[in-house]
Amino acid sequence: MPRTPLIAGNWKMNGLSADGAALAEAVAAGASSRAGGCEMLICPPATLLHPIAALLGEALKLGGQDCHAAASGAHTGDCSAEMLADAGCSYVIVGHSERRQHHGEDDAAVRAKAEAAHRAGLVAIVCVGETRAERDAGETLAVIARQIAGSVPPGARAADSVVAYEPVWAIGTGLTATPADAQTVHAHIRAELARSHGASVAEDMRLLYGGSMKPENAADLLAQPDIDGGLIGGASLKAPDFLAIADAAAR
Ligand code: PGA
Repeated sequence: MPRTPLIAGNWKMNGLSADGAALAEAVAAGASSRAGGCEMLICPPATLLHPIAALLGEALKLGGQDCHAAASGAHTGDCSAEMLADAGCSYVIVGHSERRQHHGEDDAAVRAKAEAAHRAGLVAIVCVGETRAERDAGETLAVIARQIAGSVPPGARAADSVVAYEPVWAIGTGLTATPADAQTVHAHIRAELARSHGASVAEDMRLLYGGSMKPENAADLLAQPDIDGGLIGGASLKAPDFLAIADAAAR
């Protein structure tokens, strides 16, 4: 089964109601004028999910940036996967490095969140990636293997899970992994998934690259055989840039 590319925008903690709606409308209009070729998704901050859900057409999907593992309860400040689904989401990012680093989320916590996403009927985008120090120490592939083993639920399937490779040193820095380096890691992720989840799950599951993907480098990254899309931060805040990346994916 060929893998449909997924181009996902991670807005992070950016956007108030007026500019968020304008950005979502511009991306939705661009998405609907591009029939097929790739799947498009935006993940705005939680406060904007409800209003933006009302603006999206069929061609643009909505996702959350994080979820709690529990469905409800005494978890001040958190948001459950069920709440995201209720707000119109079909995806949620879990285990982003900014959550792992700044909120102390370990692989077990990330896996619990991915399982919560599945329970709520959402597709989990499970993020993995090495730090600069780990890369410099030659530990990239070992770190990724450990994160895949610990963070991707045993029951994950291609229909409910996506893995995003986001080298921490490339996020928001303007530095990008070379297409060849990124491909090496993506191939490693697919091999690890084949070992843990079986060959057909690994073959069908989409693997996204994230970390300073932009219009200038997207085509070369997306041309790699195991890169099936992008998780895009900075460039997702400008509709023309985000749409240009989608065009590169649909080629
Ligand atoms: P960036 O962020 O594109 O701004 O590097 C990617 C991400 O953190 O998802």
